[in-house]
Order: sequence, then C-alpha cells, then structure tokens
Amino acid sequence: MTTRTDYCGRLTDADIGRTVTVCGWVSKRREHGEHLAFVDLRDRTGIIQCVVDHAHDIRNEYVLSVTGTIRARPAETINSELPTGSVEIGDASVEILSRAEPPPFQIDGRVEVDETIRIRHRYLDLRNSRMQRNLRSRSAINASIRRAMDAQEFVEVETPMLIASTPEGARDFVVPSRLSPGNFYALPQSPQLFKQLCMVGGIDRYYQIARCMRDEDLRADRQFEFSQLDMEMSFADGETVREVISQAVSEAAETITGERPGPIPEISWLEAMNKYGSDKPDIRFGLELVDLTAIFSETDFNAFKAPCIKGLKVEGGSDLGRNQLDQLTDKAKNWGAKGLVWVKVGEAGEVTSPVAKFMSESEIAYMLSELEAEEGDICFLVADDWKRAVHVLGLLRLELGRPPVNEGGFHFVWVVDFPLFEEVDDQGNPTPAHHPFTMPHEDDLAMLSASSDAQDLLKVRSQAYDLVLNGWELGSGSVRIHQREIQQQIFNLLGIGEEESQVKFGFLMDAFRYGAPPHAGFAFGIDRLAALLVGEENIREVIAFPKSQSGTDPLTEAPTSIDEAQLEELGLKVIPETL
Ligand code: AMO
Ligand code: AMP
Repeated sequence: MTTRTDYCGRLTDADIGRTVTVCGWVSKRREHGEHLAFVDLRDRTGIIQCVVDHAHDIRNEYVLSVTGTIRARPAETINSELPTGSVEIGDASVEILSRAEPPPFQIDGRVEVDETIRIRHRYLDLRNSRMQRNLRSRSAINASIRRAMDAQEFVEVETPMLIASTPEGARDFVVPSRLSPGNFYALPQSPQLFKQLCMVGGIDRYYQIARCMRDEDLRADRQFEFSQLDMEMSFADGETVREVISQAVSEAAETITGERPGPIPEISWLEAMNKYGSDKPDIRFGLELVDLTAIFSETDFNAFKAPCIKGLKVEGGSDLGRNQLDQLTDKAKNWGAKGLVWVKVGEAGEVTSPVAKFMSESEIAYMLSELEAEEGDICFLVADDWKRAVHVLGLLRLELGRPPVNEGGFHFVWVVDFPLFEEVDDQGNPTPAHHPFTMPHEDDLAMLSASSDAQDLLKVRSQAYDLVLNGWELGSGSVRIHQREIQQQIFNLLGIGEEESQVKFGFLMDAFRYGAPPHAGFAFGIDRLAALLVGEENIREVIAFPKSQSGTDPLTEAPTSIDEAQLEELGLKVIPETL
C-alpha cells in the first residue's frame, strides 16, 4: 500500500501540481464512456474527486488508495458546495485495499434512514459526515471540560462501577456476584456517594467524566448509559460551584461555536415556574406567563372560580382558526387542564371569545392591559390550582413559541432555590426534589424540625440548583448535608428509618463521624450538552453506539440470554413465566 500523503477533504488550489496519495471509501462513481470515470473518495475530512481511466471493478464503499496529481477542474465543473470542489486528482492510479458488499443504506444520502437500521449498522452510519462531526465535537467538548476543570485545580478521580445502590430516583441495573451467590452489585446511577466520600478524604476538588447507568424509559434526552461531568468541592457554597461549572460549559460552548457565552443569568425556581411554567425554562423566546388571579377575584364565571388564573399573549395570533384553537384546547386538556379560554383582540379593544359574555368590561380591560395585548393578538387563559395552571400554560408556551433546536443561539440559565421536596407519596412521605443528600435552605431548617404536616414540608426550600440550556435540564447540584443528625432527620422525613439508612448509607453516615468538611457539587449531562451544541434533537446522535428507543442494541442484540452453566455459577434461575 502506498503511504497516504494527504487527507481527501483538505486538498485545495494550493496543492495544484502536487502528486498525492489519498485513502478512503468510495462515496460515488460515475462512468463517462469506456475510458473515463469519476470516483468520489471519502475520508474523515471530506471528499475529493478522482479521475480514473475506468472504474468497472470499483463499487461504492470499496476502500481505495489513490495516487495522482492535483489539477484544477474545468471551470464549468467546479462544485462550489464542496471545499475541494475546485480541484481533482487527475490520471489517478487506484489500488483496491478492501472490497465491500452493497451497503444497506446510502452513506452520503440525504434520505432519512430508519433508526434501527442505522444503529444495527452503526459502523456504516459512523462514516457519514454528520456522525463524524458529532463525535469529533463531543471529543472536543470533553477536552475543553477537562481543560477548564484542570485549570481550576480539580483532580480527576475514578470511582467504582460495581457498587451498592445510589439513589438518584431511577431503577438500578444490577450485576449478580459469582463469589457471593444471591448477592448483587448495582451499577452507579451517579458517583454521588463516592464523591462525597472523596470530600471526607480531603481531595478538596474532585471531578470525573463519569459513566452513569439508569434503568428508566428512554427518551430523546435519556439513555440507559450516559456521561456526566461530575464534580464536588469542599468548603465551597453553591455560588462557587456555579462559577466553576459556568467556566466548564462556557469553555465547551466556545470550543464548538467560537464564541464564549456571557455570564449565565440566575432565576429562582418560583420565578421560573411563574414566568415560564417550567423548572427548565427555555428563555430563547418570550411568551411569558402573566398572573391574572386578582383580576377575576369577583368573577361570576364558574370556570374562573379557581385558586389561580394564568394567561399568556401571542402577538399577532388572532388569525388562529377555529380548528387550531380546538386542537390547542384538546392538548391543554390532555396536559391536565379543565379547559382553555382564548380571547382574540380586535379593533379598539373589541374582543372575541366563546366566554366573552362571562367577563365584565373592566375584567377584560384589566386583563388586556396586564397582558399588554393589542389589536391582532390572542390571549390564552387557564384557571386551576397554581401547579396545574402554570404547568399547562408552560407547555402551551412551548407549543406556540419554541424554536427548533438549532435556532436562537445558546441560552444558559441557572435555576436556584428549588424546594427540598417535590410531592407527597401514597404513604404520606415527601419525595426529595433532588436527592436525599441536599442541604435544606438555612432559613428553613427550623420549619423542617417543627413541621409534622407533609404539605407544609413542600414549602421548605433547598440549596439545590439546576443548569438549563434552551429548555433542557443540563445538570443538577446542591450544597450537601455534612452533619449526621440532619442527614438522619431527612432520612426519617423521607420514611427511611434508622435501620434501612444504616444498611443503605451506613458507610456515608460512618464517614461523617470522622470530620466531614462542608461540601457542594454538581453534575451535568455531557450527551445533552453535546447534542444541543451541535444542534441535534436526540442524544443518540452524539453517542457512538446508542441503544434504540426500546432499550435494546440492534447491533450486538444485547440484552441476550446466558447459558445454563453461567446461570448456575451465579446461583441464578430464570423463572419461565416471567419471560
Ligand atoms: P441528576 O440525576 O440530576 O444529578 O443528573 C445530572 C445530569 O445527568 C444527566 N442525565 C442523563 N443524561 C442522559 N440520559 C439519562 N438517563 C440521564 N439522567 C441524567 C442530565 C442531568 O441533569 N448526583 C447528582 C448530581 C449532584 O448532585 O452533584 C445527579 O446525578 O443532564
Ligand atoms: P365549560 O363551562 O366547561 O363549558 O367551559 C366554557 C369554556 O371555558 C370552554 O371554552 C372551556 O375550554 C373553558 N374552560 C373551562 N374550564 C376552564 C379552566 N379551568 N381554565 C380555563 N378555561 C376553562
């Protein structure tokens, strides 16, 4: 094989006259009569046209080494869409390094190929320029994150994969133990407990690009396996953690876009819920929610006799037709609303609405002024309890205004002051909004011990914070509890008794006996960050070998059964009726 001198995609006018050897895959071939053929050769950098005297025995995806002289293309054949489009390799001699069967799909085609087929033949899909770009970008993002963390004196520590369970709210993947039959390791949902132990161990500043495993339903932003930039630091507060993480994501964004994002704004959880109806607000666009409860406090309209009324206005939306409005109402009902009121604004504040007759003139005037609605606009209103009203309007806001993933730039936002607990479960126990190791807000500690009512507990704030990018939750973190007593109190509130907490987290509680520094930390999803930065809607597009939607791997056919001998060695028996 002749040694490669150049990459296909890097040849330009400056190379005219040089004799080069390029290697790669046949992207396309076109024969012009008996003695002239064009072969487009592809490698990781791009495509170059090679002119050969015949290509009868060359097929798409053959692997070739091509040697010839770079020359300018005739003016009328210049391809301005290709970086190498003004040159070609003339009088090329071809060495076939490897033959290929016809691929199951065209690699450089623009046609959408079925996801399962793409993943089954991922090694072919990876040749596509989109996957090449995505994986290279991801690699650059990882490098930039490491650079940022190293510069801030963080130490990369690898934590174990075979562990006892870490509670992050998903199911564990478990691994049976051969040496201890009947016992199981869990794969880490995150390195949470180990990074806290690193703090007790005096590491001071820990980070890791960590693989995490969670057995949960797959979605566009969720896979079973994913990577986090995971970090923890001692003697630091939430603000310091947010500064460190801001550096890391800014470095990553700059690596991909060439521009460093400005300072990342902060918004409280309550404000995010009130303005955007979401704890992961997409702030690329307006359409903010407005509170209208007070305006309708005296209403005679039964549907509006609710604890909360929220509205939003769509500028120029009054041309929405009846059909579209009915569809939006159906959607709102599917999201849990009892109904959706719309009000179109016409000339001189004249309004059209199916429920206009139930609203007084002053209510209408006040509502239009609060929403700053003018002629040609449409307003949507939902009456319900606060949680549902903001939730439904938040989803409506996204439905009406959310730009595609690759438009509108990159808008990071910190969401702070999350509540400590999210809801009360069937047993009357509150569930943690983040995880059980999150420190309550200092001012609310008293409320925590005084309160016996689970509903009251929902008002306790935490020292947890999220990082959101374009409406995706990128990451979460918190100041941690480092005192045994408070940790035990939280476990008790969550319905985890002393005995259970000793079994599950005894090692952490024990570590806290021996001098635990105050500490705080964070983790963000690298798959999510990479997908957004390269403009992909699904994190599968930035993962080399992802699982399909159903959680299986069409390439290796995992998960597979194992043979009897292996089961026996592990002390396992498969119950046939569960299959
Ligand atoms: P959390 O559970 O919020 O926090 O996870 C942090 C981030 O990890 C990413 N992520 C995922 N990405 C892809 N697929 C998944 N299934 C998946 N699950 C989570 C998200 C998410 O925001 N130990 C805490 C962090 C801490 O407190 O320091 C934790 O893991 O981007
Ligand atoms: P109804 O009285 O249920 O027929 O509803 C009259 C109109 O008010 C319909 O357009 C409903 O979609 C709307 N509506 C009913 N309940 C609510 C609510 N809680 N919030 C907003 N609109 C509602």
